[in-house]
Amino acid sequence: MVINSKKSLQETLEIAKKEGNTIGLVPTMGALHEGHLSLINFAYSQCDRVVVSIFVNPTQFNNAADLEKYPRDLSKDAEFLKTHNPETIVFTPEIKEIYSDEVKSESFEFGNFVNFMEGEFRTGHFDGVGSVLKRLFDIVKPDKAFFGEKDYQQLRVVKKLVEITGQPVEIVGCPTSRNKFGLAQSSRNFRLSDSQLKEAELIYEALTRAKKMFSTNSVETIEKEVEQLFQAHPSFELEYFSIVKEKDLIPTKTKESEENYRAFIAAFLGEVRLIDNMALY
Ligand code: PAF
Repeated sequence: MVINSKKSLQETLEIAKKEGNTIGLVPTMGALHEGHLSLINFAYSQCDRVVVSIFVNPTQFNNAADLEKYPRDLSKDAEFLKTHNPETIVFTPEIKEIYSDEVKSESFEFGNFVNFMEGEFRTGHFDGVGSVLKRLFDIVKPDKAFFGEKDYQQLRVVKKLVEITGQPVEIVGCPTSRNKFGLAQSSRNFRLSDSQLKEAELIYEALTRAKKMFSTNSVETIEKEVEQLFQAHPSFELEYFSIVKEKDLIPTKTKESEENYRAFIAAFLGEVRLIDNMALY
């Protein structure tokens, strides 16, 4: 069922809720793939009805060309959902339904969570993500909302968002879905040629190498190793490789035995910017 107005969606959900159904929300920007499918299946394992929103949110793009090139094919997405999860409620709002007349981000106090990595390299990105999700949570009023760990920093920011807004939705993190070579599923992969798809496995290789090295090497040694790996592959431009404390997402150069750490990467392959991360424990 594809619904594009807020009012019809709310009427449909009102009936479902009255019948005692719990509602799960999987927010997406479309260009659906196996990664989304695993989020949707996760949502079905915990909720009776699942809403998948498809909305390319302009306020979270800090780069106009990136927004322009973002893959959009609503009929393909609707077909994809019909094939895999025909009972899913697909919400495809127009910009006005979300932002009324002013397409502008609110600013949130996300603190340290947005000072590094994506927050540092994509100014205003997380305020845009927070703005759209706050509105989607208000419209759908889901019991739970599902987010992939591929965007781990986003997952933590969204948890912080609902702490700030007090919206009664449980944020659920889901494991990263990867292709058979380890590449994290992403809508941006649609923009890679076949040979680039193969090359992109380097990101997973770097993360797994960092994980293997972590217990016996310093952060600096691991960083050097990853930088050298990317230098040996000039089709890539490494934007950042950071090892952070999972607790606060602040990059670190030291290791403490009682802390958990995570490695994060962003790299351009041609014009396509890819991100990924991995727990180091
Ligand atoms: O992860 C995404 O696709 C987007 O950031 C989200 C959560 C749908 C918000 O626009």
